[in-house]
Amino acid sequence: MITLDLTLPDTRYPIHIGHGLLDQIELLLPALPIPQAAIITNATVAPLYLARLQGALEAKGVQVMPVVLPDGEAHKDWQTLNLIFDALLGANAERKTTLIALGGGVIGDMTGFAAACYQRGAPFIQIPTTLLAQVDSSVGGKTAINHPLGKNMIGAFYQPRLVLADMALLSTLPDRELSAGLAEVIKYGLLGDEHFLGWLEDNMAALRARDPDALQYAVRRSCEMKAEIVGQDEKENGVRALLNLGHTFGHAIETGLGYGKWLHGEAVGAGMVLAAEASRLQGWLGQAEVARATRLIAAAGLPTLSPDLGFEQWLAYMGHDKKVQSGVIRFVLLKSLGQAVIQAGLSDDLLRELLSGPFIQR
Ligand code: NAD
Ligand code: GLY
Repeated sequence: MITLDLTLPDTRYPIHIGHGLLDQIELLLPALPIPQAAIITNATVAPLYLARLQGALEAKGVQVMPVVLPDGEAHKDWQTLNLIFDALLGANAERKTTLIALGGGVIGDMTGFAAACYQRGAPFIQIPTTLLAQVDSSVGGKTAINHPLGKNMIGAFYQPRLVLADMALLSTLPDRELSAGLAEVIKYGLLGDEHFLGWLEDNMAALRARDPDALQYAVRRSCEMKAEIVGQDEKENGVRALLNLGHTFGHAIETGLGYGKWLHGEAVGAGMVLAAEASRLQGWLGQAEVARATRLIAAAGLPTLSPDLGFEQWLAYMGHDKKVQSGVIRFVLLKSLGQAVIQAGLSDDLLRELLSGPFIQR
């Protein structure tokens, strides 16, 4: 096991990464202020891992309340969030009851938001069970639900007390979900570490074959980069926005097609191709670099062509992006492979060329 630290102005927490950590329950206990916990999970993950976690906690004298939500991005909404509050209040859960997210990014984001709101702030722990959640969503304290008009539009910055990333849990993950997680891994290489990008090119086959060492290295490097960036800019006033590479286009795809049609990671994969092509149209990347980024995204099993939402619809959905300032969409683009920058506004001509160009499905 390795442990990384995320250090912020007001808090600091460990990110444990390793194999078989779900069975090392003593890692969790220091993060529980009282021996009461609610495990928030979903109908897919519960049959796989809930009994093990619940049993191990109960064996240590922790009183556990399981809350099993419906599965899916389409349920990342007010109605489902309210089921958590119904369960907590129905059981008279106290403010110091720890909310434990056992699931992917949807469960993690909703549990974190519920913890931020419950009695104005309850402790919470992230046990991410997808690759995407292990490399990205469980770390850094962004919590949210979706709104029909925009992805992750209602939420809070609220940090967990501990993240436990157990590689063994990835053994049950469907291949399509593994690929979705690889999109966020590739994101780190593209935005800030060309050496890691090269490592990913050399090791993509091993990652897709779930080689445990390759997976652990990818999770570790991703979490290191995320912890460093979030440590500098917790509330996204600057450098943290770079972690949204591909997301302005990706969120538009998710909202435009309806939540859950494309996986978040798939939308980010195709969105990063558009970001690379936009960077070429800006004169920053060459054809060969766009092709290199596109090849890696395809090698991860991700789509590289975005759906044709229609120009006005693209603009409308991207206009709901959280990076918009004074009405101007701020894009994350690439000065080079391994160096992302924020570009406030792109000309209508460039956007029209991009959104009717070779990376849009015909
Ligand atoms: P997800 O949570 O929907 O999980 C994907 C699917 O895998 C689900 O059906 C889930 O039930 C299933 N699953 C989870 N773990 C499993 C396991 N071990 N074995 C078998 N099946 C398993 O999707 P995701 O890709 O993990 O997360 C996407 C969400 O994360 C999006 O809502 C996105 O907005 C959010 N996100 C948040 C942040 C952040 O910083 N907070 C960052 C990136 C993404
Ligand atoms: N996933 C983007 C962020 O955490 O900032």
